[in-house]
Amino acid sequence: MMQTYISLEQIDEAAHAVQTRTSHKPRVGLILGSGLNGLADSVQKADFIPYGDLPHFPVSTVEGHAGRFVIGDLEGRSVLVMQGRIHYYEGYSMGQVTLPVRVMQRLGVETLIVTNAAGGVHPAFIPGDVMLITDNLNLMGMSGLNPLMGPNLDEIGPRFPDMSQAYDRALCDLARKVAKEAAINLREGVYAGLSGPSFESPADLRFLRLAGADAVGMSTVPEVIVGRHGGMRALGFSGISNKANLDGSTVTTHQEVIEAGKVITPKIEKIIRGVLREM
Ligand code: HPA
Repeated sequence: MMQTYISLEQIDEAAHAVQTRTSHKPRVGLILGSGLNGLADSVQKADFIPYGDLPHFPVSTVEGHAGRFVIGDLEGRSVLVMQGRIHYYEGYSMGQVTLPVRVMQRLGVETLIVTNAAGGVHPAFIPGDVMLITDNLNLMGMSGLNPLMGPNLDEIGPRFPDMSQAYDRALCDLARKVAKEAAINLREGVYAGLSGPSFESPADLRFLRLAGADAVGMSTVPEVIVGRHGGMRALGFSGISNKANLDGSTVTTHQEVIEAGKVITPKIEKIIRGVLREM
C-alpha cells in the first residue's frame, strides 16, 4: 500500500487537540486489545476523546474496538487508555497505525503498557491464559513494514534505535511479582507480530513455532517499536484466545477471540492494576 509518513507537525496538531479536551497529564499509556476493553471503564475522572475527533487520526473499524482515548486516573496514576487500537490490516499506513503512540509521547507518556489477543503457539498454552511478552518477532518489519521507515523524526528519537530490551526488564519483574501475589499463572514468551487479517495456516504456525514464537497476533510490535524509539519503557501482555491450529484440525474465529476476552480481562486487569500501584 502507499506509505503515508507522519510529520512532527501532524503529531503535534493531534497532541494539541487532546490537550484542549483534557486537563490530565498522563504518564502511562495503555493500549487495550480485542475483547480486552473493559479496563477503560474503571478509569476515574475520565475524559473521552473519540479518534474521529482528532486531526490525522485513523479510525478503528473492527468489532470489539471502540476507538477512543480514555484519559484519567487509574490506581493513582494519570493514564491515557486507547480503548481500541488501529491495525495495519485495516488499510492504514504504519505511520497512521502508530500515530497514537507518538501523540502519547508528545503528551509526556513515559511508560507504554500494551495488551492484545493472540493465538497460543506454545503447545502448553490454552485459551484464557495470559502471557507476559518478554520479546517479539517483528515479522512485519522483516518484510519491510517497519513503522520507522521514512524520514527520521530526530526531535523524537534516533535513526537506528536499539531493540535489545524492547520489553522493560524491571517492569516484567514487577508483573511477575504482582501475578504471583494474585495467584495468576502468568505464562511468558515471544510474541510474533503478523499483519493479518487472515489467521495463520497450519504451515505458517509450524514455521512460527520453529522460529521461536509462543504467541501470534496482528498488532503490538509496531507500537512497541515506536514507543521504544521515543524512549518509553514498554510492558506487554497477550491474552491467549485460541490455540494455534498447527495440524489444521480446528477453525479460528474472531468471535472466539472476543469470547476468550471475557475470561482474560479480569486477570490482565489485576496484573495491570498491581503494576500501576507499585511502579
Ligand atoms: N492469530 C493471529 N491473531 C490472533 C489470533 C490468532 O490465532 N488469535 C487472536 N488474534
